Amino acid sequence: MQTLERILHSQGFGTRRSCRALVRARRVTVAGTLTEDPFAEFDTGALVFAVDGQDWPFAEHALVMLNKPAGYECSRAPQFHASVLELLPPALRERGVQPVGRLDQDTTGLLLLTDDGALNHRLTAPKHHVPKTYRATLKHPADATLCERLLGGVQLRDEPTPSVAINCELMGPLTLRLTIDEGKYHQVKRMIAAAGNRVEALHRESVGSLVLPVDLAPGAWKWVVDFAG
Ligand code: URA
Repeated sequence: MQTLERILHSQGFGTRRSCRALVRARRVTVAGTLTEDPFAEFDTGALVFAVDGQDWPFAEHALVMLNKPAGYECSRAPQFHASVLELLPPALRERGVQPVGRLDQDTTGLLLLTDDGALNHRLTAPKHHVPKTYRATLKHPADATLCERLLGGVQLRDEPTPSVAINCELMGPLTLRLTIDEGKYHQVKRMIAAAGNRVEALHRESVGSLVLPVDLAPGAWKWVVDFAG
């Protein structure tokens, strides 16, 4: 059991004092009921509260997926574009969610963000080999030899060993679906260049078992629940 004030604070709604004020200003409901007492206690298991009418499931750690649009950087201190963090509500930014790995500013699609450092590490550390699937739009029409090269492994400059696709499918002459289980810098673009073509656009469809939902619009985010890892 935790007080409502403490719950709101843990979920990114500001200092204990400002959380207390939120409750007293009648802006918070718990399980659909207006609650004006910041010291009322609640069991946090399966708790859903709302602030200003927006539902928030209590989460020990936050894990969300974002349909990243082009023109955003995966950095807290972006250099040339806005940060993806600007696409999230203040409460999530406040609790310190970080992108899980990086997508280039011009890459679109599935980006996970979490405040769970151990999970972030598990999803990005090379030794865990989490598969990531991308759809690449190619500059030059391709045939089956492109997949053969990528599946066989291509040598990238400054890398000790060849980079190998774990799956590759030509969806059309200019569209390739590629799965890799590493996360080297610009890896997909560099692999396709090393195989003799060029990426014109890149979109990530999935990370591990998590697939970008078709109804999640570019720039929109949603909670990931029941993620086993
Ligand atoms: N590979 C790339 O080249 N760019 C990305 O954004 C992700 C993977």
